[in-house]
Amino acid sequence: MRRVNPDERAKIAFWLNGRRVSGEAEPRMLLTDFLRHVLGATGTHVGCEHGICGSCTVLIDGVAQRGCLTLAAQAEERAVTTVESLAGADGALNALQTAFQKHHALQCGFCTPGILMSFTDYFARNPNASEADIRAVLGGHLCRCTGYAGIVEALVEASRSGNPAA
Ligand code: FES
Ligand code: FES
Repeated sequence: MRRVNPDERAKIAFWLNGRRVSGEAEPRMLLTDFLRHVLGATGTHVGCEHGICGSCTVLIDGVAQRGCLTLAAQAEERAVTTVESLAGADGALNALQTAFQKHHALQCGFCTPGILMSFTDYFARNPNASEADIRAVLGGHLCRCTGYAGIVEALVEASRSGNPAA
C-alpha cells in the first residue's frame, strides 16, 4: 500500500454553488479551510472545529454536513452549497434570510451561516415543521449572542411561509 505523505498536495475539484472550482490541498485539509483559504469563500464560519457549534455547516449534495469534520478531498466531484448561494444574483435575500432580518435573529452573525444552511436542508425535507421540530434541529447549533428567541421566531415564520428556502 502506498503511504500518504501528509504534506503532498493534490488538486481537488468540485461544484461550489453551481460553479466549477478547484485548488490544491494537503490530504488532511478540512473543507472549511479549503473553502475559506484556498477558494476565498469566507461565508462559511469556523468556531470549535470539533463538530459541536454548527457554524461551519454546508450542504454536500444537498445534505447538511459539518465542514470542519469533512476533508476537502471528500468533496471531490460533489456539489457543495454554502451561505453565499442563498441571496439572489441581485443581492435580494431569500425567505429564510428575510425572516432572520425581520426578527433580529443575529447579532455578531457568527452562528448565522451554519443555521441558515442547516435549515435550508431541513426545510427542503420538512417544509411545514413545527416549533418543536425546529427547536430540536436548532439544538445542533450554538449561538453565544441572541438567546435563541429571535432565531426560533424567524425559523417558525419561515417555515409557515410555505417555501422557506425560496
Ligand atoms: S466549527 Fe464545525 S461544528 Fe464548530
Ligand atoms: S449571533 Fe453571535 S453567535 Fe449567534
